[in-house]
Amino acid sequence: MVRLRSVSGKTSPDPAYKDAIICDVIDVNPASSVLTNHLRRLFPVFTMSSAPKIKLNNGMEIPAVGLGTWQSKSEEVITAVSHALKEGYRHIDCAWGYGNEKDVGEGIRQSGVPRSDIWITSKLWGTYHSRVEECLDQTLANLGTDYLDLYLVHWPVPLNPNGNHPIFPTLPNGKRDVDHSWKLSDTWKQMEEMVEKGKVKAIGISNFSVKKMEEILPTAKIIPATNQLEIHPYNPQHELLAYLREKGIVPQAYSPLGSTGSPLLKDEVINEIAQKHSIQPADVILGWLVAKDIVALPKSVTPARITSNLNGAIAGASKLDKDDIAKIDGLAASGKQKRFIMPPWPVDLGFDNWPPFV
Ligand SMILES: NC(=O)c1ccc[n+]([C@@H]2O[C@H](COP(=O)([O-])OP(=O)(O)OC[C@H]3O[C@@H](n4cnc5c(N)ncnc54)[C@H](OP(=O)(O)O)[C@@H]3O)[C@@H](O)[C@H]2O)c1
Repeated sequence: MVRLRSVSGKTSPDPAYKDAIICDVIDVNPASSVLTNHLRRLFPVFTMSSAPKIKLNNGMEIPAVGLGTWQSKSEEVITAVSHALKEGYRHIDCAWGYGNEKDVGEGIRQSGVPRSDIWITSKLWGTYHSRVEECLDQTLANLGTDYLDLYLVHWPVPLNPNGNHPIFPTLPNGKRDVDHSWKLSDTWKQMEEMVEKGKVKAIGISNFSVKKMEEILPTAKIIPATNQLEIHPYNPQHELLAYLREKGIVPQAYSPLGSTGSPLLKDEVINEIAQKHSIQPADVILGWLVAKDIVALPKSVTPARITSNLNGAIAGASKLDKDDIAKIDGLAASGKQKRFIMPPWPVDLGFDNWPPFV
């Protein structure tokens, strides 16, 4: 089924397509992609839905579904990003630390979608906490753009900028070389300067617990727009999310499907709900996030999955009822609580359900 939210009445600015109308599709069954492709041929300015948007505390609106790019190899990510944008994604999640931003930039160029239509997020790596602009400038050059929509502090863990490795410096005992003298509030000051300079439109944080947020909020001039966290049905972090809502910080869900080799897609309850609504398990999980106004960032390098994750998230959000949402909300508490992403940082991050740091 294809459901149109609106026909704007606007006509194409291109005189060759003066009779084309601009539409917005809100509900596309993956099986109907033949129809939507046909519509796109008929109406060249026909826009696929790029998912609902969520308003941030600075008034900007972030697309609620974005393509993740962590662990996507060079050649794969060029195709993945280009395919995603052609299929209606308008949000790409990147990071300096992923080492593939040049390829992401190439994928953006190959898609033909104008930069101004795309939400690009990237992240400051730990060895650059005292050199924010330097890291950001590399990211901008890699991506081939002169601004980011959102720039995040990747982890609340400043690493030694003069250590034995540019990404993961270590001490002689093998532990990661953390710069304990550097204050997160000083990192945040430099992040704020990037907004003032116009290099980024919004700034936020990632992997910040309440304990870590309280190291920057008392002196912050700009409240973080988002906090990107591991959020999925086995790690819903309800209390942390309530804190974020109270502070006006939008949560973004990374590893929403439970990352590589996830057991989540085989979960009995998720599968029952998928069957009930004739959708895929991934659609249930992504729809659950979007229905709760959490930005979902599924990663895939498989074209069919990239397409179905966007359409499925939108379909899932519209189909799940209160009971479904309550069941998914309760999965972790029923004994399934699990984190999948726990890098061995030798600091107390202040999260629940994180193994004791070493
Ligand atoms: N801020 C942070 O510290 C942080 C940490 C982790 C992740 N992230 C961001 O969040 C993004 C997503 O997290 P993630 O990459 O860890 O994991 P994810 O999106 O939860 O899962 C990705 C895995 O699921 C597979 N997959 C995707 N769609 C599927 C579908 N419809 N059905 C079955 N399998 C599917 C992918 O395989 P294929 O690719 O082979 O299709 C891949 O193996 C990252 O890429 C990154 O942008 C941020």
